[in-house]
This record gives sequence, structure tokens and C-alpha cells, in this order.
Amino acid sequence: METWSIHSAKGGVGKSMISVNLAFLLAKKGYNVCIIDYDLAAPNLHTYLGRTPRHFLNDYHNNSVELGDCIEDLSDTVHLGGGKLYACFSNPSSSSIDEMMKLDEKKATKMLRKLISIKKIMQKEYQIDYLLVDTSPGIGLTVVNSFIVSERIIFIVRFSKVDIESTINMLNGFKESINETSSLVVNMVPPKLFDEGRHLNLEQVVKSVLQSGFDRQSIQFGGWIPTDRKFVEQEFELATQMISGYSVEIPILVNESMEIPFSIALNSLCEKLTESS
Ligand SMILES: Nc1ncnc2c1ncn2[C@@H]1O[C@H](COP(=O)(O)OP(=O)(O)OP(=O)(O)O)[C@@H](O)[C@H]1O
Ligand SMILES: [Mg+2]
Repeated sequence: METWSIHSAKGGVGKSMISVNLAFLLAKKGYNVCIIDYDLAAPNLHTYLGRTPRHFLNDYHNNSVELGDCIEDLSDTVHLGGGKLYACFSNPSSSSIDEMMKLDEKKATKMLRKLISIKKIMQKEYQIDYLLVDTSPGIGLTVVNSFIVSERIIFIVRFSKVDIESTINMLNGFKESINETSSLVVNMVPPKLFDEGRHLNLEQVVKSVLQSGFDRQSIQFGGWIPTDRKFVEQEFELATQMISGYSVEIPILVNESMEIPFSIALNSLCEKLTESS
């Protein structure tokens, strides 16, 4: 089993979107996958996956349930898949978020022990091939926990001045935890530029920055993922329906179609990652 953390310097760059789609893609390819919402200060994996969980990772942290009670089996939602797909959600209630605001090193160490036992249980009892950890942005104690248990860290960045600068600062701050199995993925390339292949001219530049920077730490370049324009429009429609009281489901793009640029790009990232694992 391998554990992959999906991380970014800034929020809203697509960690959860990529984690969820990567989890489905791996399961479609026949791997057993579990995805964990480790963004305990702002959980939203349950929203992406349209679930109302009864128990959460927080309950496992507080020793009030067994791990199995907060693992949901989503395998029946994977189209054409041979693998199992499980998810472990975090509690979005204000009291749980408030608890995370008071997180100190002692509590974070307890959470780390729990994360290590989750890894063991996932490998032994669930026969998981890939454990994906969707993290919270920036630098924090839970992020450090997720890095400690991960064989690979996938950094997501948007190609903007603000995000690139924040990412470089963050990578320098984390240099102890980053090794050559970590990758950087550029998400949300504007669809028009992606179609025209404009990003390809920049690939070499990004690679050389990654190889020369970060105090001799080298990070692989994972690739480019375009913004799916239809998805952005759909999200707007779904939000409109939701506030009108309808129950709505967020589409999983790799489940909808493997022919769209988003899925093709994510598939080549997935192949790169699994080949080198
Ligand atoms: N490639 C993409 N195409 C279309 N929409 C995208 C893409 N990537 C992300 N999004 C959208 O951008 C928004 C932010 O994405 P997401 O929630 O995955 O970010 P995040 O990094 O997990 O944020 P946070 O740090 O707050 O958890 C969402 O509305 C998501 O659906
Ligand atoms: Mg997220």
C-alpha cells in the first residue's frame, strides 16, 4: 500500500477535486482505494461525494467508535470499476471545527498515532492499494502528520503569481519532508490555453525550476490539468438548485467521461504516479 497526501499552499486550488477524481480513477483501474478527509478545520469531502455520514474520523480520534464505523464503502458508485472505494469523512459541525482551532502539539501527536493505525488497518483489513489523504492548505500540524505517513506528496498549484510564490515559500519551509517522489501538478489551466497547447511551452521552465530549487530537493513535475468549463457551469446550476431546496449531486468527471481533457490529463498523471510507485 502507498499513502499519498494531496496538498497545496493556498486553498481552493483543487485538492479535493483532484483527490476525489484520482480516487475514482484508481478504483476504476481495479485498485482498492480509501480517501480520507484530513482537512478537519474545513471538511467538505462528504459534499463532493454526496454523503451524510453517521460517524466521522473525529469520533475515531476521540475513541468513541472503531475505525470501521467511520469508513463508508462507495464501491458501487465507481463505474466499470473492479476495485473497492472507501471514504473516511471529517465532521463539519461548528463544535468539531472549534476543537481543531485549539489543536496543540500534544493532540496532534495523538492524531498522528491514529493516522498510523489507520494505515495499518487499511493495509491489513481492507487490502487497500492507495490511501489518499486530502489535506488542508498551508502549513499546520495536521499537514505535518499527513506528510509523515505519506510515501508521496502531490502538490497542487494554480499558475498564478500569488499561488506560485506561496507554493515556492511553502516548499522551502517543508524541505525536510519533501523527497524525489513528491510531484507538483498545475491545476485549472484555462481551457482555451490548454486547447491551444500554450502550457506546453512552459513545461521545461517549470521542470528546471523544480530541479534547481528548494535547496537541492528535487520534485517531479506531475503535469497540467485544465479547468473543465462545463463543470464550472454545472456547479453554478447545482448551487442554484441547492439553495432552492433540491438535493443535488456533484458529478465525478472521470466517472462521467474519460474522453474530456480533464480526465485525459488526470489519467496521464495517474499513470505516471502508479508506474513509479
Ligand atoms: N480542473 C478543474 N476544473 C473545474 N473546476 C475545478 C477544477 N479544479 C477545481 N475546481 C473547482 O474549484 C473549486 C475549488 O476546488 P477544491 O474544493 O478541490 O479546492 P481545495 O484546494 O480542496 O480547497 P480547500 O483548500 O478549501 O479545501 C471547486 O469549486 C472545484 O470544483
Ligand atoms: Mg479541499
